[in-house]
Amino acid sequence: MGDIIKSDKIAVDRAELEKRPSVLRGDKVTKVFGYGNSKTVAVNAVNFNFREREVISIVGESGSGKTTLAKMLLGLIGVTEGDVYFKDAKRDISSHRKKKEYWRGIQAVFQDPFSAFNIFSKIDSLLLDCINLMGGKKFSPEKKYEMMSEACSFVNLKYDELTNKYPFELSGGQMQRLMIARIFLLKPKILIADEPTSMVDACSRATILDMLMKLRDEVGMTIIFITHDIGLAYYVSDTVYIMEQGKFVEVGSAEDVIISPQAEYTRRLISDVPKIHEEWDLSTV
Ligand SMILES: Nc1ncnc2c1ncn2[C@@H]1O[C@H](COP(=O)(O)OP(=O)(O)OP(=O)(O)O)[C@@H](O)[C@H]1O
Ligand SMILES: [Mg+2]
Repeated sequence: MGDIIKSDKIAVDRAELEKRPSVLRGDKVTKVFGYGNSKTVAVNAVNFNFREREVISIVGESGSGKTTLAKMLLGLIGVTEGDVYFKDAKRDISSHRKKKEYWRGIQAVFQDPFSAFNIFSKIDSLLLDCINLMGGKKFSPEKKYEMMSEACSFVNLKYDELTNKYPFELSGGQMQRLMIARIFLLKPKILIADEPTSMVDACSRATILDMLMKLRDEVGMTIIFITHDIGLAYYVSDTVYIMEQGKFVEVGSAEDVIISPQAEYTRRLISDVPKIHEEWDLSTV
């Protein structure tokens, strides 16, 4: 799979990237769980600025705060301190209606696809919900069918074989592709992918990444990958953020951060993956 991604890897022009409009910006974003002695600072005053069509990876060890940050960005949990700006305006998700509006712009695919769906909803109604959310409630049944079939074929699923099935009747890989079909219908400005490929084999993994990158080109989406996998981060992203104990210890282009890391922690992350040089053939880049 390294080859598939590698052949597509063209380093982005940083000056051009930094001129693009900001889609999601954070100023000292912090999350504290618990109180007193049992207090955990999961995310500690992080700053970031994600731009249109930028592909970002957030890399860090288990427990470094990646998923907590993702949940704050999605508005699934509150921010203890700091501010989040969506398209340069301070984010307002204070009501259910405002939250729903925000979710038209930002969506996620998760580590565990089983947790993402309402298991009592059949697949056609999951897809219909997406069409409705995007304002397609009044479309004719034919139009809706056409949109759902198109979304399924984008991810190599056959809509006609899926109707009347429940999510738990699908394989892990099919389920992840179904998640991407949802994104195809929702066309969000920003997609957060929390270890989207950890459950599937190398072949499906390449396919899933390929689909996400294709969607990004078609829709002009910003993608934020959250991963342990520094090789993946190198091959898919423009910008890499290295997270250690709730803080960003190093940020920069994928080339700078991974080929010539400055922070001790980044060096350790890279050396902890001795196979990376063979598997991803980094040494010859
Ligand atoms: N709901 C919660 N209540 C209390 N502590 C939490 C909660 N969620 C996460 N934490 C703590 O916050 C820290 C960061 O957890 P988080 O899940 O964000 O890590 P992660 O980087 O996503 O790890 P992984 O790579 O294993 O998924 C950990 O110390 C975790 O125990
Ligand atoms: Mg996590």
